[in-house]
Amino acid sequence: HHDDQTVIIPPVVTIMGHVDHGKTTLLDVIRKTKVAAGEVGGITQHIGAYQVEVNGKKITFLDTPGHEAFTAMRARGAQVAHIAIIVIAADDGIMPQTREAIDHARAAKMPIIIALNKIDRPNANPDRVKQQLAEIGIMIEEYGGETILVPVSARQGIGIDDLLDYILLVAELQDIRANPNLPATGVIIEARLEKNSGAMATVLVQQGTLKMGDSIVVGPLAGKVRAMFNDRGKRIQKAPPSTPVSIMGLSEVPQTGDRLEVTSDERAARLRAQQEVEKRRNESAAPGQV
Ligand code: GTP
Ligand code: NA
Ligand code: MG
Repeated sequence: HHDDQTVIIPPVVTIMGHVDHGKTTLLDVIRKTKVAAGEVGGITQHIGAYQVEVNGKKITFLDTPGHEAFTAMRARGAQVAHIAIIVIAADDGIMPQTREAIDHARAAKMPIIIALNKIDRPNANPDRVKQQLAEIGIMIEEYGGETILVPVSARQGIGIDDLLDYILLVAELQDIRANPNLPATGVIIEARLEKNSGAMATVLVQQGTLKMGDSIVVGPLAGKVRAMFNDRGKRIQKAPPSTPVSIMGLSEVPQTGDRLEVTSDERAARLRAQQEVEKRRNESAAPGQV
């Protein structure tokens, strides 16, 4: 039922939730427990995403400052993640940004896993949160629904393995696939100007395999992959689907949410980039149009 060049790819997971409910702490504890120490001196590059391996299976986590990047990408129509982890502090319950996060996930048709965080706190009230979830139409398994809720303490490292297992389970049910044999397409999840290396862009490869030397177009910019690094800062030659990579080879810093495409050659990349320049110029010349 699918073209036979596709393979199962790692799920891309985004962690969202209300301010201070523990998104960053959760991302940190997952990275610390699952990314082997000692690789490239144990220094984790911050490139906006990282991959972990659980029982031989990879999971890609978007390590972006939650909402803003996600919203920016959605505004450009970029679908990045396959699964949304909604972090809810068990002592605080559902808050405005929790609702927003759930709305985002629903709009993007992403399956949701609830990470009920801070269960170590004395005033944690899991039952209250479960009831609040029911009130907004999130039916958890315990109540006969389909949404998985995992009690965790990001600070104490409780429930993290369960959470990772459930992510893999949900991913398996989603049957997430891509064809690694195509020219790559992806999305910019982070970009910055670096003193010595110039424009650095983190790309999440979504289809195909990105390779050294590929001619690329990123929004209005044409370029070539001149260097490529993985989330551990290691130089790599190619990146299959769901791999986050930092690339050098663009003359300017692209925008978060811009799409990357590999073209047949440099000339095609320049042409495509020029078309995008004109398209954006026309859009900004038409006031009132969003
Ligand atoms: P923003 O990025 O500002 O929205 O916050 P965040 O969701 O990333 O929360 P963050 O990880 O910064 O955690 C906020 C506070 O809650 C910090 O002081 C954490 O140490 C604390 N915290 C996070 N997880 C837990 C937990 O499981 N238990 C307890 N007791 N505290 C936690
Ligand atoms: Na915080
Ligand atoms: Mg944070």
